[in-house]
Amino acid sequence: MSDNIATLEIKGEKYEFPLIHGTENETAIDIKSLRGSTGGIITIDPGYKNTGSCESAITFLNGEKGILRYRGYAIEALAEKADFLEVAYLLIFGELPTSEQLTKFYKDIKAQSVVDDDVKKILDAFPKSAHPMGVLASLTNALTAFNPSSVNVDSEEDMYKAIVKILGKFPVLVAWTMRKKRGLPLDYGDSSLGYVENVLKMMFKQPNEEYKLNPIIVNALDKLLILHADHEQNCSTSTVRIVGSSHAGLFASLAAGISALWGPLHGGANQAVLEMLEAIKEDGGDTKKYMAKAKDKDDPFRLMGFGHRVYKNFDPRATIIKKAADEVLGDLGVEDPILDIAKGLEKEALEDSYFVDRKLYPNVDFYSGIIYRAMGIPTEMFTVMFALGRLPGWIAQWREMRLRKEPIGRPRQVYIGENHREFKNIADR
Ligand code: SDX
Repeated sequence: MSDNIATLEIKGEKYEFPLIHGTENETAIDIKSLRGSTGGIITIDPGYKNTGSCESAITFLNGEKGILRYRGYAIEALAEKADFLEVAYLLIFGELPTSEQLTKFYKDIKAQSVVDDDVKKILDAFPKSAHPMGVLASLTNALTAFNPSSVNVDSEEDMYKAIVKILGKFPVLVAWTMRKKRGLPLDYGDSSLGYVENVLKMMFKQPNEEYKLNPIIVNALDKLLILHADHEQNCSTSTVRIVGSSHAGLFASLAAGISALWGPLHGGANQAVLEMLEAIKEDGGDTKKYMAKAKDKDDPFRLMGFGHRVYKNFDPRATIIKKAADEVLGDLGVEDPILDIAKGLEKEALEDSYFVDRKLYPNVDFYSGIIYRAMGIPTEMFTVMFALGRLPGWIAQWREMRLRKEPIGRPRQVYIGENHREFKNIADR
């Protein structure tokens, strides 16, 4: 009985497969030879709940224990001690940068932080009512047309050039997406500022006023972006990897990831949480009605911001964000009844057997929108802010996939349709 072999018996035949072990003692059955050695038998696993798509050295999370680490560093330490650009460097290149490395990284990013003016014509074509995630995905894809050298990148040097391009231009697209909605002129901010400071200035600067940075808001956004920066093989990251595996360009792969993140079951949940909390507030704060709806199998309503595919304990990010919500709203002197409703809902859910039995806890999206709102960010922009945070994680995962020369992603299926049948002319149907 070897620790490194799994044996599968099918119709009396025994097949052996190697076990692989990760650095955190996770074990996987390597089934690369399954179909070939069994004459065509495959596995099936809707939603990939039990299936690993890759080996990765970027992010480790343990859902049972509520652990999250980027390149081995605990999320709690990074959120408290690092800044977003440092974490971006760590995720992408694997080590915390020295001061010189960080200075060069930001210098290279700033050199690429102008977007071709013709992109504004694409933005102009959208109605103000367009959802910012759809606009952002489109503009991100459009960047390829203005930066064709970002597509065929096989060398680390060419990858680096594409990476600093998107890290420089993406915050501009984020800001322009919000300003378009608000009917404000498109602003470029000021590259003498830090990365996050400049994002805020580009987003919020009024054309006829000086923009004054509020350190409380700068720190809050920096922390939120760090907390959203990566999360191993979630839906949108897996999308970036599979699109990138066809060697479509980095920007096209990221645009696909933005589209996946948009869904309310994924990153779109932060917007859905605020809309849900607003509805409860309009309903006189009747949380019990919404709890009942969430538990009713015949009601499609879910308690948004609750539950997680991997975390069956507290999402460590939610714990940090909940604390930050109290601090930021307190520091800003914002009284938001929505926060109290959220806390009440959390308390009720954590005492309710439906949620406890299913291990449904608040996730990263449950409290984040409350802080975004206190910062003056419109609800429809919440998922765009999630994308801004997740950008370095997507880049890191794409880069790892390309450097490891992973094969093109192409899952199998089990066919359950019609068996062969002869064509019938229309007259005979
Ligand atoms: C993110 O994967 C990541 O890492 C994602 C993310 C990241 O950083 O990239 O962490 C970001 O996407 C966080 C999740 C944001 N989504 C939401 O808050 C939407 C609400 N949550 C759910 O839709 C749900 O919990 C998911 C989608 C997050 C997870 O769904 P799963 O793993 O497919 O679980 P499931 O749907 O099979 O649910 C298991 C049971 C079911 O009940 P039973 O059929 O067993 O009776 O739990 C129930 C579900 O009905 N359930 C919920 C619920 N979530 C699960 N019931 C009510 N409200 C909920 N929110």
